[in-house]
Amino acid sequence: MIDAIERVVRELEEDRSLLEPDRLRERLEALDRLDAYLPFLSDVPQAVLGVESNDAGVYLRARAVCARLEAANGELYEAIRGEIRRGRGHDALLRWVRSPEREARVGVGYDVGDGVGYDYLDELVSGVLQFEEPDAGEVAREPEMVFYQPTPAHHIFDLVGGAGLTAEDVLVDLGSGLGHVPLLVSICTGASSVGIELEAAYVERARQCAQRLNVKATFFCEDARVADLSRGTVFYLYTPFVGSILRDVLDRLRREAASRRIRICTYGPCTAVVAEEPWLEAAAAPEMDRIVLFRSRG
Ligand SMILES: C[S@@+](CC[C@H](N)C(=O)[O-])C[C@H]1O[C@@H](n2cnc3c(N)ncnc32)[C@H](O)[C@@H]1O
Repeated sequence: MIDAIERVVRELEEDRSLLEPDRLRERLEALDRLDAYLPFLSDVPQAVLGVESNDAGVYLRARAVCARLEAANGELYEAIRGEIRRGRGHDALLRWVRSPEREARVGVGYDVGDGVGYDYLDELVSGVLQFEEPDAGEVAREPEMVFYQPTPAHHIFDLVGGAGLTAEDVLVDLGSGLGHVPLLVSICTGASSVGIELEAAYVERARQCAQRLNVKATFFCEDARVADLSRGTVFYLYTPFVGSILRDVLDRLRREAASRRIRICTYGPCTAVVAEEPWLEAAAAPEMDRIVLFRSRG
């Protein structure tokens, strides 16, 4: 085993190009490889003292490689944060998801992957947004309210690329959690965005992030059933609630749509319910594991 680890460590030590800023994806893959070999890497000191000195040397070299790769990622994330603060976050972030090949094929320049799970883009986003761990939730949840889980970043970039958002739009994320969607949408499109979230600790973290990065995203600690929807042009729901709560909120959105055209973007199981609304028209065949865009019929 130690020989296999040594080979990987040597290969990574010798590949100096891994430290170039653009090689984020390769660095994350390298860190994954080291993680797989050395699951106890972070607790190594005791273990190191207990093993033969050659093995100890390999473990220490592996830790040094990890530290260098993580430092290179940290520098990249800080550079992107600087660009976001200067109002140039659009290019700084979207260059990681642009796919010229896909642009030529389907006209949308973002590679949204295979539609499932989290990937290196989520690492990039969490490295850049740097949310502090929120305190434990305090809200007494009703059974129909869904727990926090972020939309995978590649789907958020799909929304950015596919919804045609402009600086005139206001995106409202109903059940915004830590605020990934409003923050990334505002950074990448210039649209204003609003997050409505029941859990105060999440709202606080989202506000801190928007302030640190100077992003046009506002967060309200409210129940989506009573929040002000009048400014929104695009509403996003990653299945924040089901059953009668979803019904109430869809009825409120229908009333908004009676006086102006709105768009609704969904992700997850709520898509099937939204697809049944006769006042909405889906832009493409509704699928649960993709973001689906609906327009109100006018
Ligand atoms: C599946 S998470 C989605 C988080 C975020 N929209 C995203 O995509 O990254 C659902 C969120 O909705 C919130 N939520 C549930 N019921 C709510 C309600 N009635 N009003 C506002 N937020 C609610 C939960 O606290 C949770 O953070």
